[in-house]
Amino acid sequence: MTDLLTKIADRTAHIGVIGQGYVGLPLALVFHEAGFIVTGFDVDPAKVQALSRGESYIKHIGSDRVATAVKAGRFDATTDFDRLRDCDAIIICVPTPLGRHREPDLSYVHGTADEIAKRLRRGQLVVLESTTYPGTTDEEVLPRLEASGLHCPGDFLLAFSPEREDPGNARFSTKTIPKVVGGVNPPSTEVAVALYSAAVDTVVPVSSSRVAESSKLLENVYRSINIALVNELKVTFDRMGIDVWEVIEAAKTKPFGFTPFYPGPGLGGHCIPLDPFYLSWKAAEHGVWTRFIELAGEVNTSMPRFVVGKVAAALNEEGKSVKGSRVLVLGLSYKENIDDDRESPSYEIIELLHESGAHVDYCDPYFPVARPGRKHDVGLRSVPCTAEAFAGYDALVVSTAHNEFKNPTLYGGVGLVVDTRNIVRPSVGGPRRVVKA
Ligand SMILES: NC(=O)c1ccc[n+]([C@@H]2O[C@H](COP(=O)([O-])OP(=O)(O)OC[C@H]3O[C@@H](n4cnc5c(N)ncnc54)[C@H](O)[C@@H]3O)[C@@H](O)[C@H]2O)c1
Repeated sequence: MTDLLTKIADRTAHIGVIGQGYVGLPLALVFHEAGFIVTGFDVDPAKVQALSRGESYIKHIGSDRVATAVKAGRFDATTDFDRLRDCDAIIICVPTPLGRHREPDLSYVHGTADEIAKRLRRGQLVVLESTTYPGTTDEEVLPRLEASGLHCPGDFLLAFSPEREDPGNARFSTKTIPKVVGGVNPPSTEVAVALYSAAVDTVVPVSSSRVAESSKLLENVYRSINIALVNELKVTFDRMGIDVWEVIEAAKTKPFGFTPFYPGPGLGGHCIPLDPFYLSWKAAEHGVWTRFIELAGEVNTSMPRFVVGKVAAALNEEGKSVKGSRVLVLGLSYKENIDDDRESPSYEIIELLHESGAHVDYCDPYFPVARPGRKHDVGLRSVPCTAEAFAGYDALVVSTAHNEFKNPTLYGGVGLVVDTRNIVRPSVGGPRRVVKA
């Protein structure tokens, strides 16, 4: 333990980051930029090859950062897990999706823990960052690592530290977002805190890995429930002829006790739609029903149908049916100005419109081609983001607030826009009619 603390202090510790995705790649770069030797591990050879060439495959992470790290000679990427033996600290950033019945799928975490166990050596620190239910680190990861014959804290150390990445957020980065850290025992907490303190500005130690796991879930449950609340109010106020966006603008002038959340077409991304169900699943084991989580999930997942209902009603007012209409969905990303379409509600909107007989296309400068995902495969290519292309549709549905869609001149020849993000205004030279949804 003292050895590792010394290596952290003098930056000779070798850090391995398993999973070079939206979370693992920026984390690896932050440790590199703090002076450490870093190796990124991934099972995807294409990612490893790109990193080895000094290229980023994530739009908001510049290739220049990766190229600088590779050139400095202290960062490399590999699919060879035997190289875990070289690492003093190993950080796990693999996916934690849900299974078909909304149950936690820990297969990536289990597989990774087993791979580490095969090569675990005395003096190593292992940290899990993947979002998961309380108890995963000590109930699932610890026994797998101890199957190696080594024990924690005598031989190795183990902690959990939740990732709080907000892709595309220019105000906060991996380095400046405070990092919660909790070990499965005090020595693990101490060393994990020392490691993160060497690379990020603020570290928040907590008493256990379970508190650290729970704090991440609280953050995501909080967002899911508050988004569900404004989505429900959107439907309510819509029926009453009141604009929920104007209501939120007014309410947020209260200087205390109110945080604005905004409605939308439904939840997306790898976190908010999934993580709360990790907690409800685990809570059931303790005989507790997490009703807020279930209700929020129900409200949020009903949003794509609400949006499609608004499209149908708006077309109807123009004497048109969804069947046979040409509809263009703007945006596949789940949030603005990023190239992440995981769990994006746009796919469900496209499919629902298609099922109703519409001819549906999409436009998204971040996705020239719609990739097949876990649940959806729409088999489409983006139409150009031009006024000429937009003018060829009976209705446009704004699903993502990309900056590219905020240019009013795009809508000059457009009759109807159904806007879930409040970014388009009817105007001279703009669309004839805008319906908020
Ligand atoms: N994306 C976010 O904004 C965000 C924010 C906070 C927390 N998280 C959490 O972080 C974790 C990772 O999410 P992500 O968005 O980085 O996912 P991602 O899909 O972008 O990246 C995961 C990476 O792991 C690799 N991988 C899969 N199995 C592997 C294995 N067995 N060994 C090595 N590599 C493997 C994949 O090839 C991929 O590159 C999840 O638990 C997620 O909930 C994500």
